[in-house]
This record gives sequence, structure tokens and C-alpha cells, in this order.
Amino acid sequence: MAIQISPSILSADFANLEAAAASVPNADWLHVDVMDSHFVPNLTLGAPVVEALARVSAQPLDCHLMIEDPDRWAPDYVEAGASSVTFHVEACAAPVRLARELRSLGARAGMALKPATAIEPYADLLCELDMVLIMTVEPGFGGQDFLEVCLPKIERAAALLAHCDSDIWLQIDGGVSAENIERCAAAGATVFVAGSAVFGADRPDDMVQHLRDLAEKGSG
Ligand code: DX5
Ligand code: ZN
Repeated sequence: MAIQISPSILSADFANLEAAAASVPNADWLHVDVMDSHFVPNLTLGAPVVEALARVSAQPLDCHLMIEDPDRWAPDYVEAGASSVTFHVEACAAPVRLARELRSLGARAGMALKPATAIEPYADLLCELDMVLIMTVEPGFGGQDFLEVCLPKIERAAALLAHCDSDIWLQIDGGVSAENIERCAAAGATVFVAGSAVFGADRPDDMVQHLRDLAEKGSG
């Protein structure tokens, strides 16, 4: 499957998210980090901001919910206009039920795992999803160093997903850069979130293309 790049607006200018979206026309998605200061020790934005961004963004929104009780709140993000909604399995009471609900509302359903969460206990649920997100930093903040120890989990997740009939995307998020994206793609990741690497670059859209080129090289 084709490589996709999803720049995280967490590293963009929150005073002008419309300009941030417009600065990366080459991006497949815009990654929107929703944090509630309970599941993670940081607070960002909620459904009203997602709704506003959805109105002005040319790219579809890839919402990453780092919140408690996603069973209750995640459907609101589909209503707000997100095309993909990813919840954390550590916070979710009923992942299959929630994934089915998100899909029935018309969004893609993703399930995220923190670095210390093993993928194997969820092996039987994975085919219910559209995407699995393997965090490569502890969620909560942009600009952290990539956790190299997560690479074997990317490989194991890719092997598990290969058993599903449908094409389930494998996303990674945290510390992704030109330095490591090639080996992440070689490990089997297909969708790459990058915040500081893209919005910290002089020319964000050129960086999106550069990351895509490197990932394509790694996956080939
Ligand atoms: C971290 C967020 C990430 C973050 C990535 O909790 O989920 O999406 O914005 O930022 P970088 O690429 O700077 O690690
Ligand atoms: Zn994220």
C-alpha cells in the first residue's frame, strides 16, 4: 500500500491553523492531537476546533484522541468532521464496539498503543480496524526523541495485520524524522505522523515530500 504522510498540527502555529493546513498541500492527512490532561499530562483542543479546522482544511483530518473514555467521546469527532478517528486501547472499555460505531458513522477507525502496551493481547481484534497506531514516544508532547525500542513492535504488528483480509494501515507517531523514517517503513509502517520534523522545517511541504521519498525507499 502507498506511503502516507500525516503532519501533526501540534507543532504548528495554533493561532493560524488554516495557514498550517495550507502550508502542506502535499500531505495526505492532517494529524490532530486531542489531549484531555487526564489520559496525558497536556491539554490541546476538542471537537469545536476540529469542526472549524475541517471547514478550512483541504486535507482530511486524522484525529488522534489521547483522552479518557473514548467510548463516550470519540463519535463526536466524526460528527465534527474527522475522516479518521483513533482512540487509545488503554483508555477504551470496548474497542470493537467503538470501532464499529465510528465506522458506522462514516469514519475510519484507528486503535493506538502506547510504547509499553503489547500488541499481542489484541491480535484477534485487529481485523475490525482500519488502522493501528504504534506510538514511538510516550504520548503527550511533540518534539520528543523517537523510541528505537518500538521498532520490533512495528514489525510484529505488520505481521499480525498481514493475516487480515482487508488492508489495515499501520501508523507510527512520535519522533518520526528523515533520520529514522526509512527503517520504520522497512519494519512495515505505512502511515507516518510527523510534527516537529514537518512544521519545524523551513519549507514544510518539501519536508513532506522528502519524508515520503525516504519512506518509499524503505518500504521497497
Ligand atoms: C504526541 C503526539 C504526536 C506529536 C508528534 O503525543 O501524538 O502526534 O505531535 O510530534 P513529533 O513528530 O514532534 O514527535
Ligand atoms: Zn498524535
